[in-house]
Parts: sequence; structure tokens; C-alpha cells
Amino acid sequence: MAVKRIGVLTSGGDAPGMNPCVRAVVRTALYHGLEVYGIRRGWNGLITGDVVRLDQKSVSHTINRGGTILYTARSDEFRTEAGQKKAASTCKFLGLDSIIAIGGDGTFRGALALSKQGINVIGIPGTIDNDIGCTNYCIGFDTAANTAIECIDKLRDTMQSHERCSVVEVMGRNAGYLAMYVGLAVGATAVLVPEEDVDFERDVIEKIRQARFNGFTHYMIVVAEGAGSANEIAEKIRDATDLEPRVTVLGHIQRGGVPTGRDRVNATKMGYTAVELLMAGKTNRIVCTLEGGITDVDMEEGLTKHKGMQKIEFDVLAAMTGI
Ligand code: F6P
Repeated sequence: MAVKRIGVLTSGGDAPGMNPCVRAVVRTALYHGLEVYGIRRGWNGLITGDVVRLDQKSVSHTINRGGTILYTARSDEFRTEAGQKKAASTCKFLGLDSIIAIGGDGTFRGALALSKQGINVIGIPGTIDNDIGCTNYCIGFDTAANTAIECIDKLRDTMQSHERCSVVEVMGRNAGYLAMYVGLAVGATAVLVPEEDVDFERDVIEKIRQARFNGFTHYMIVVAEGAGSANEIAEKIRDATDLEPRVTVLGHIQRGGVPTGRDRVNATKMGYTAVELLMAGKTNRIVCTLEGGITDVDMEEGLTKHKGMQKIEFDVLAAMTGI
């Protein structure tokens, strides 16, 4: 069936770069003479028919805007078969033959369910957690990492002046990709991620001890939220040393802000590719990046992939921390 009218939505946690991606979907679709509708508030919008027609102007000046102009949500109703059927009937009623969904793995599981109801679906990875197994890169990761790096650099100034220990909690849900990247970039004393069991004495106290032996008098401990709470870790450091750690939970600030150039360009390429895939008669695909290039994988297969953290990250961390 030829593609005529597509819908685009953002779902799950927002990520900087979602807007450039929506813009690319809209402009590529219009370039090919397709109609394109924005579905607002994630999968909920498809259940309730919360759609808006998009044209060239509707996405003007959005390439540099954080958040998502389409709003986003985590839809409980869409997790049910009844919700999925309602969404499919909205598509049929409105003549939407294809849906492009930008989000994380929960978003793609929703897309897969919708495809079983006869709708073409394409997924685009957008999450600051960067935890989608089939792609190296997820939209939003670069901006979030740079935001966290900027914040921690600022913290370091005051930690250095007061000769203190800082414990910073970074987002990432169950994954440590963001924390690891940020920890390496700020030259942390220690980085704790859920991908590796934490031995508190070895991974925190010994790192602080080594840093002190090496003449340092302030310490930056970066903790992925999935590896533990910054408050609890600070408490344990307080108990085990003479330090009075200060805690910073970076929180949702990491999800906001103007998308970086890398996020804008990748989001634009991914949005473009999603429409091209539909034009080529493909469905049930996730657009992804592998070895720097844009490619696509079967959605069901892509969802089974687990990325894992690279060994070099732990090796580099071991060589760089505690000194
Ligand atoms: O998945 C993105 C993310 O920001 C996670 O890093 C975090 O654990 C979660 O969303 C927070 O969700 P909410 O915005 O619903 O508090």
C-alpha cells in the first residue's frame, strides 16, 4: 500500500533533539508530497485522536528548541490491547497509514503492538539514557551529557575552593551510559554505574584515598541513578572518612536545553531516514546509527539487543580515576 498520510509522535521522557527530528520528518514527508500529522501527547494522542496537521511553517524555528512541541506522555492505556485497538481505529478513521514514533524502548514496544493492528510503524531512538541496544546513538544523549558536564565543571570550582567531596547523581534509569560518559568527561574521582557491581571500599573509598595520596584535596564522585542514591553514597563516605560530602542530584535539568549540533544533525538524518524507509515500502524498522552511519533494523529484533558497556570504558576509568 502506497504511503499517503503519516503521523509523527514523541513518547516517553522528552529528549533535546526531538524537535529537529519532528521537523525533519515533516519536511521530508512534504518534500515527497505526503500529508503529515502531529500526534500530541504520545500514544495517548493516538487513542484520543489528538492530532494536528503539520506544514512547513509549523516546524519553523524548532531546530534549536529543547523539549518536544508535540508534548509527550507515558501511556498506561496504550499498554493494554484495548488501548492499542483504539489507537489503530483512530489511524483507520483518520486515514493515517503510517506512524513514526520517537522515543525509547517502551515507545517501540508500543509501535510494535500497533503494527500488529495493520499500521506501518518506524521507530526513532530518542532518550537521554542512550540505552537502546540496536543503536550506538540516541537523540538527546549528547545535549544531556554536555549539560551534566557543564554543571559538574561548575561544581568542581566550589568543591576545589572548599576542598570538599561532591557526590553527583546523573540520570539514566537502569543504564549507566550517561554517567560513564559524563564521569570520563569531567575527570571524576570515581564513577558508579549499574552495569558493574559496586564494591564501596574498592570503588569509592580507595579511589578517594589514592587521590589524597596524590595530593588532591577535593573529590568528584559521579553516580548513575541506577547504581544507587547520591544521598546514601554521601552518607557512607561520611561514615568511612573525615569528609563532609555535598550532594547534587542533577535531575530533570539534564533533559532540557538547546540541542547540540550533534543532536540536531543526527535527529535530522534519522527523521529523514524514517520517511525514506516508509517511501521504500519498509515498516517495523528502528532507525539507528552503527559505526557512525545511519541504518535500520527490524523492530522486533532491535528490541532484543542489549548494548552493554564497552570494556574500554571501564579500562580507561580505572586508569583515570583515583589519581
Ligand atoms: O528515560 C529518561 C529519564 O530521564 C530517565 O533517565 C529517568 O530515570 C526518567 O526518565 C525520569 O522520568 P520522569 O521524567 O517521569 O521523572
